[in-house]
Amino acid sequence: MAHMDLSQERLCALLAPRPVRFFQQTPSTQDNARQWLHDDAPDGAVVIADEQIAGRGRLGRTWITPPGAALALSIILRPSPDHLSQITLLGAVAVAITVETFGVQPGIKWPNDVRLNGLKFCGILPEAVWDGSTLRGVILGIGVNVRVDFSLTEVATTATSLEPALGQPIDRAILARSILEQIDDWWPHLGTPALFQAWQTRLDMLGQNVTVQTFDGSIQGRAEAVNAQGALLVRQDDGTVQPILAGDVRSSG
Ligand code: BTN
Repeated sequence: MAHMDLSQERLCALLAPRPVRFFQQTPSTQDNARQWLHDDAPDGAVVIADEQIAGRGRLGRTWITPPGAALALSIILRPSPDHLSQITLLGAVAVAITVETFGVQPGIKWPNDVRLNGLKFCGILPEAVWDGSTLRGVILGIGVNVRVDFSLTEVATTATSLEPALGQPIDRAILARSILEQIDDWWPHLGTPALFQAWQTRLDMLGQNVTVQTFDGSIQGRAEAVNAQGALLVRQDDGTVQPILAGDVRSSG
């Protein structure tokens, strides 16, 4: 099944009536989706690839999508600008709830990595597309490691894949369908306490001592809570609480 689970025909059948474009290999599904958005893609249209050769992650990082080993998916959404910041929560909650159906408890590492046993198996990349001051849409990128072998890589101690973590084979097209169903289910809850709660209750680093790398430098302290805007509240040694809107959090023991 490893390489046969994704094809244009199978995805069209499983995801109907959602419009879908499948690429055996592409630089990044984010770019395919962006082009489609410019060509007036319908809401909810999705791009899926078997392999990305220039996949990208948050904070300018590279995202590896080897052939036959991962789910790389970009969904075209048109939220109201007021709900833009909620799209990242939507992606993380959709993936976490999908994986919970396998009988495990994934956690969300603030803001939006989805992890099992503290190891990341999914990253979320929301990219807003603007026409001047008008929001044209958002490309919600979701990358799930299904059977990527990280053992000889520099992320061997921080990353994992679903199949070894769950101990069972995963069909990537069925996984995509489940995640998209969750996104559809949660879409009406954008901007509501229900979505915020679903995200907040799954955050897995609250109460821990952390180091946060931000664009301005690094901050150390205890990750106490998140505020209504989704910012991480870090209490520093001098007692001050620093709200962090974007950054990379690491547990510092
Ligand atoms: C991160 O954790 O840094 C976010 C990773 C997002 C990866 C996905 S895979 C599908 C889509 N295409 C990309 O190039 N990136 C996103």
